[in-house]
Amino acid sequence: MKTTALLTFALALTVSSGTALAKGMKGEAVFKTKCAMCHPNGSNVMNPKLTLRGMRNSKIIIDKIRKGGGGMTAFDRKAISDADAKAVAAYIIKTFSK
Ligand code: HEC
Repeated sequence: MKTTALLTFALALTVSSGTALAKGMKGEAVFKTKCAMCHPNGSNVMNPKLTLRGMRNSKIIIDKIRKGGGGMTAFDRKAISDADAKAVAAYIIKTFSK
């Protein structure tokens, strides 16, 4: 009985969060391929003071993606689309803001 309830809950969760999950995966995929070499686990290998931890504003993150600077690569829309920039910003806020 308990197991059934748990399974039903897990199933409902999987179905209802389907789209959010897909979006989350994409942000994570972008992060792993384009950012993680310099920001492993939200850190910063080139400038340890400027980590990705505690960031809450996606506009600031997207701005940094586009402009780069201070050693960071700038990524134009060909390198990272607007949708991908949004997804990776959301991923950073969700993953490293705790
Ligand atoms: C070549 C290494 C490198 C790559 C690749 C890189 N970054 Fe950075 N990033 C840096 C450096 C160095 C800084 C500090 C820049 C400065 O001094 O302003 C930084 C800073 C940032 C900041 C501001 C952090 C703060 O506390 O102010 C954000 C946000 C950020 N990066 C996001 C990203 C994202 C998202 C990606 C992938 C799309 C990425 N970075 C890829 C090196 C990199």
